[in-house]
Amino acid sequence: MKTFERLSDWVSLRQELKQHNRTIGFVPTMGALHEGHISLVNQAKKENDFTFVSIFVNPTQFNSKEDLEKYPRSITEDISLLNAAGVDAILLPNENEIYEDNFRFKITENKFSKILCGAYRPDHFDGVLTVVMKLLGIAQADRCYMGEKDFQQYLLIKDMRESFFLKTKIISCPTIRESSGLAMSSRNERLSTENKVKAAIIYKYLHEKKTVADVRQSLEDSGFKVEYVEEIYGRRFVAAWLENVRLIDNVKI
Ligand code: PAJ
Repeated sequence: MKTFERLSDWVSLRQELKQHNRTIGFVPTMGALHEGHISLVNQAKKENDFTFVSIFVNPTQFNSKEDLEKYPRSITEDISLLNAAGVDAILLPNENEIYEDNFRFKITENKFSKILCGAYRPDHFDGVLTVVMKLLGIAQADRCYMGEKDFQQYLLIKDMRESFFLKTKIISCPTIRESSGLAMSSRNERLSTENKVKAAIIYKYLHEKKTVADVRQSLEDSGFKVEYVEEIYGRRFVAAWLENVRLIDNVKI
């Protein structure tokens, strides 16, 4: 497995791969990897000749310095996990290279990015779309793999691809869960053991409760601070805080 920090080193290999008509599957991540990320890698490996993963904790998508600083980082473990999963190359870009323009150019979506998570995290999706646009330009992959765990993010990236005539296909992959039903997330590491058990009721209520109002009430009764429970695009979405950890999930209805 090759590891790159400088974009130019990856670009040389990418050109070589293209010359040999090898297809590239790309998985963008922010690290602190778990089985959810690895499921995207496995899908990419099945459908492409070469699997490429980026790890970049993108500062422009965080709403506070504190949240960015608290974001879990485990680069050594991440590299071993990716190696074991059979990834071909990893990009660990530095912030100066990604934001050489000091965020002078950015992608803004004015509709779907303003609801659900966007209503509570102003400018979050500008940061996500901008970094993904940059990473797609760098990777020049045939396919890019995104998790349904972040369904709003996946839809926005898929629509951005169409709006900007990007060639990389955006592929969605199912949410990987703990046996309790809790959606795997890098942020779960910040939950106490007790709250990790409690957090699993989000998934249970998303299925069980008849209305979004029932889901909200039941979560509030269990001590969650609920941001939203909403149904849109044939899915039920939730975002709620437990302690000081923000959890999101969604299911098909
Ligand atoms: P990150 O949270 O690291 O997630 C990287 C990818 O893994 C995303 O596509 C996400 O939906 C997927 N993923 C996370 N948990 C999952 C789970 N339990 N099951 C399946 N897939 C899961 O999402 C981001 O990073 C960033 O916003 C990024 C797109 C990299 C831009 O900075």
